Amino acid sequence: MSDKLDGQHGLGRNRVAELTQRFGGVLTEVETRRSQGEYGFYGLGQQADVVAGIRRFAEGVGQAYDHILVLGIGGSALGTRALVTALRAPAWNELDDEAREYFPRITVLENVDPTSMAAALRRIDPRRVFVNVISKSGGTAETLAQYLVVRGWLDQALGPDAAIRHLAFTTDPTEGPLRELATREGIAALEVPPEVGGRFSVLTAVGLLPAALVGIDIEGLIRGADRALEKGTETDLLKNPAALYAGLLWAADAWLGAKIHVLMPYSDRLRDFGAWFVQLWAESLGKRVDRRGQPVFAGPTPLGALGASDQHSQVQLFMEGPFDKVVTFVRVEAPGEDIRIPHRPDLPEEMAYLQGHSLGELLHAEQEATSAALARMGRMNATIEVPRLDADVLGELIMFMQLATGFAGAWYGVNPFDQPGVELGKRLTFAAMGRPGFPKEGSMAAGTGLLPDVA
Ligand code: PA5
Repeated sequence: MSDKLDGQHGLGRNRVAELTQRFGGVLTEVETRRSQGEYGFYGLGQQADVVAGIRRFAEGVGQAYDHILVLGIGGSALGTRALVTALRAPAWNELDDEAREYFPRITVLENVDPTSMAAALRRIDPRRVFVNVISKSGGTAETLAQYLVVRGWLDQALGPDAAIRHLAFTTDPTEGPLRELATREGIAALEVPPEVGGRFSVLTAVGLLPAALVGIDIEGLIRGADRALEKGTETDLLKNPAALYAGLLWAADAWLGAKIHVLMPYSDRLRDFGAWFVQLWAESLGKRVDRRGQPVFAGPTPLGALGASDQHSQVQLFMEGPFDKVVTFVRVEAPGEDIRIPHRPDLPEEMAYLQGHSLGELLHAEQEATSAALARMGRMNATIEVPRLDADVLGELIMFMQLATGFAGAWYGVNPFDQPGVELGKRLTFAAMGRPGFPKEGSMAAGTGLLPDVA
């Protein structure tokens, strides 16, 4: 708010009253759309049976495998990566069996860069791998290509019958090529609820199965998510943190031109959470038409940063560059462990001041200093404080961001659940690769009818 900044920039307190007044309309829009079947992720707080089923499946896979290989892209990969980085020990794959409590190593292969895939397949023992192929649609070219390569590799090493025991698909319950293949070949398959969009699916089998396989407390994730959902139904904007957060970011963009929304956690363990958020915010809000089909070309640009590292990289731009950003810090009050900086005799005073403090203290001081410095320079910023980083807290944080994204769709007046631009790219890829029904001729030109023209 401007009274916390330099007095010239930021939102005035009167603007909050304006947001509060407008919130009635936003909430009605969300509730109406929910009743029409959108916002399916609201149901993920109450899925005890599904979670128990995933837990049973993971226990059935048990310790027969020492490596989990996840194949997927976008919403079918980023959430899993965020969960593993946040909730497993750093450098998990480098730890020995005892340090990993005999849970497997995990590799998430997102891209189809052949050098990454070749290296992964050289590193992993096909006899000891369990492969989870994840695609909500079941038809994404990258994931299917990855699957075909990995399937050939498994068949060759183990024979086709044994290969099947090393596979599980996570896909639509009834539709798509992966579902068809699972049914035909008897491959284990879990369901992505059709009403939950890809980038909102980390708390379905998409993220929960790989998480359970590496020993993450998936029940805790859902417990935290449920708490966020409860707060997300508050009708008073000031008691509904996700709606308020979305409203403030929208106001900063729409009223003050702050179109770049930076997420800057001060924790290495939240680095991939930042990447997950970037996809969620970008793909949900970057739209050419509004809900009425009118051209808007809307959408803030999300940007990931990491504290304290990016204080020595991007923060100069945040401090002195254009007034087009809002920075959100995420601060973890109690890091999992801390290290005290030891005393040494006869240190120069420029070093001696650090002695006796801890690295956790330094990280907190850096975050507070950056926030205060930004404020002094008239730069809008907010801090999300979480008490610690465990499954329960991360589940709440994930659902908080999903709710905020859903509310932001209503603040911006766009549909946060479609991605026609991504679909167009997928279809043109199909055409380029010769998929029947997707003619190559002229398909790269404008006016293909794949997206409605807007003025
Ligand atoms: O959020 C989305 O819908 C996309 O990012 C998808 O997750 C991504 O395109 C992968 O799609 P699918 O899971 O169908 O393979």
